[in-house]
Amino acid sequence: MKRIQIINGPNLNLLGKREPTVYGNQTFDTYLQELKVLFSDAQLDYFQSNTEGSIIDKLHEAGFSYDGIVLNAGAYTHTSIAIADAIRSITVPVIEVHISNVFKREEYRHHSYLSEACKGCIVGFGMDSYRLAINAVLNFK
Ligand code: DQA
Repeated sequence: MKRIQIINGPNLNLLGKREPTVYGNQTFDTYLQELKVLFSDAQLDYFQSNTEGSIIDKLHEAGFSYDGIVLNAGAYTHTSIAIADAIRSITVPVIEVHISNVFKREEYRHHSYLSEACKGCIVGFGMDSYRLAINAVLNFK
């Protein structure tokens, strides 16, 4: 069974309430249940933190044993060299995910410190971005 760690960063605990015109109405917990049904043959572990160091600790913890990590680092995407270094420090491939199309938004969201350290990026498909990322991990050769 493939094991995938999903990591959500700051403010993503408020999905469903937070800026619904940008991020939709669904809570991540509800969506996660759907993902678990859809990918019943995989183990999906979920972690969310609003703190940069806790995200780094989770990357270190999962980063040598899982089959893939699906990471939405929220605004840390655009600021965190430390998270980028953590991604470079581990062996498990990381897929960067964004719910919104960051390239259609403010210019400060156009740059990601993480992308070049990641295996790939999925951006702008709403919550479905996570499903696409999990699918990608399941198809890793
Ligand atoms: C986000 C995009 C980021 O720019 C923003 O800071 C977020 C969410 C997304 O999923 O679209 O918190 O990562």
